[in-house]
Amino acid sequence: MAHRWMNDLTTADVTPKAAFLNRRQLIGGTAGLGAIAMTGAARAQAALEPNTLEEITSYNNFYEFGTGKTDPKDNAGAMVIEPWTVTVDGMVDNPGTFSLADLTDGLTIEDRIYRFRCVEAWSMVIPWQGFELADLLAKVGVQDGAQFVAFETVVQPENMPGVRRQVIGFPYVEGLRLDEAMHPLTIMATGLYGEPLPKQSGAPLRVVVPWKYGFKSIKSIVRISLVAEQPPTTWNKISAREYGFYSNVNPTVDHPRWSQATERRVGGGLFASREDTLMFNGYDEVASLYDGMDLSQDY
Ligand code: MTE
Repeated sequence: MAHRWMNDLTTADVTPKAAFLNRRQLIGGTAGLGAIAMTGAARAQAALEPNTLEEITSYNNFYEFGTGKTDPKDNAGAMVIEPWTVTVDGMVDNPGTFSLADLTDGLTIEDRIYRFRCVEAWSMVIPWQGFELADLLAKVGVQDGAQFVAFETVVQPENMPGVRRQVIGFPYVEGLRLDEAMHPLTIMATGLYGEPLPKQSGAPLRVVVPWKYGFKSIKSIVRISLVAEQPPTTWNKISAREYGFYSNVNPTVDHPRWSQATERRVGGGLFASREDTLMFNGYDEVASLYDGMDLSQDY
């Protein structure tokens, strides 16, 4: 891999390109890390390194290709991603079905190194490339009354063994409240480690919401709908008691069948100790989105 990523994460891991480059200069220069005020979350992550491309692309959840962790790597090659269109519909000024090039035209692609925490209590650190969903929403023009964004994954039965076996209901669907979707941390990822997104990672376009459990980060998106009501979401439909609509990472609210207090870092090795899970996965800046909500009820 040509890329050499920094071995520390700071500023709660929001890493817009400018800050990323700036920080590299800082670290390269004399100022060093001491010059940067670090939040608790960032401190918790200092000295962490992004997972390797191999780790990120060989341990996946993508049930369209099967339920095993290596099924996506083994089977996703068959998914056809060219041409690719995304339909934007619902309460928008400029609905339509767009090629990927048209959809992303004019949007700024940035590097974002994010922590990623699966509801199954494993985690990684992933160097994505992508654009802010807010920029896309501004481009298509969100109309008054839209309160949620709904997403849908492609269905290609002939290329997707998990779809043929109906291991869960498809298409995989997800959703965010509009203010969550507009938050600058929420990105549509198009790349990983500076290369186009691998198919098992959700090529060519997926959501990444780093403060929520990984299943909210829906892959291989073909439809984005602006809607007034909270949309149905795949894991919530399967088991509402276990998987809430919000699914914010929360070490104090356990899954009915396991604790969410700690996590296993993929690639950490057999003898690595589990790490404490951080509220909102360490992205404290989203806390105000949930003011007045009881997150043990709205889990
Ligand atoms: N998107 C689709 N379409 N199908 C899936 O099965 N799995 C989700 C999410 N997005 C899933 C999906 C889950 S459970 C997780 S943890 C993440 O993708 C995994 O992303 P990764 O494989 O890139 O780590």
